[in-house]
Amino acid sequence: MHLTNSLTILALAANMAMAQDTLPLRIITWNIRWATPVREINEKPWSTRAPLVISTLSKAIADTPNAVVIGMQEVIAAQLDDIKAGLNQQARAQGQGEEWSHIGVGRDDGQAKGEFSPILYRPSALRLLYNETKWLSPTPNIPSLGWGAGSRRVVTVGVFEHAATGRRFAAANTHLDNLSARARREGVQVALARVQTVQQEYAREGEARLPVSLTGDFNSEPGQDAYATVAGSGCLGELYELAGGGAAGWAL
Ligand SMILES: *[C@@H]1O[C@H](CO)[C@@H](O)[C@H](O)[C@H]1NC(C)=O
Ligand SMILES: *[C@@H]1O[C@H](CO)[C@@H](O)[C@H](O)[C@H]1NC(C)=O
Repeated sequence: MHLTNSLTILALAANMAMAQDTLPLRIITWNIRWATPVREINEKPWSTRAPLVISTLSKAIADTPNAVVIGMQEVIAAQLDDIKAGLNQQARAQGQGEEWSHIGVGRDDGQAKGEFSPILYRPSALRLLYNETKWLSPTPNIPSLGWGAGSRRVVTVGVFEHAATGRRFAAANTHLDNLSARARREGVQVALARVQTVQQEYAREGEARLPVSLTGDFNSEPGQDAYATVAGSGCLGELYELAGGGAAGWAL
């Protein structure tokens, strides 16, 4: 376990008076439910939900507007556009002219088709050093289905450098399959392998590994398939526990 690194990322929002080499960073994850044309009974259309999603995000980032990564799931291209436009409008209203950007591509074609597992960030605060989307399948470089999954599944990985301090970290975000437990177990291994690769490749001199976070909708109960796989890997600690029950996700 590498708790020192975990806590470096996690303590952040909770404790602003920290040692100089720590980076206050807020990590958010949210499955926003895709803008389906065929809604469930009582399900509101995206046009109604969008302002609420945007205002909820705006509140969540209000006190740390710059050092924030927002991982989301089930986001189709039009939703991504709406959310970024909404956050940008808020930023301008608050006198922060800087734009929000995202990494991640549509899982069905590697471009704009299908759901994204995007990570939103502000380039003025966080310089993007590297990004990738990999498919959770035996052929991670191309849009593909793995291990009995009902949908194509991806992990989005970004390596960021905090402009003000030069501190680096990686953020990964995913949405595991809802149909196949095997697809979740094997799929999360792909995500873990990618995370571990960038951790080593982008570590700074004198730093064994880059601090990382892995957020997502794991479709897995604590102790079950994907959860057990991540826990068993021994390389990530659970944010929910490390942050005293105030967060969900995994980080090193
Ligand atoms: C990586 O980021 C670039 C620029 O932000 C973007 O054009 C590209 O689509 C991204 N690729 C992935 C796989 O997210
Ligand atoms: C999985 O999610 C898809 C897309 O939302 C849905 O159509 C399907 O019914 C879900 N399957 C299960 C087993 O929940």
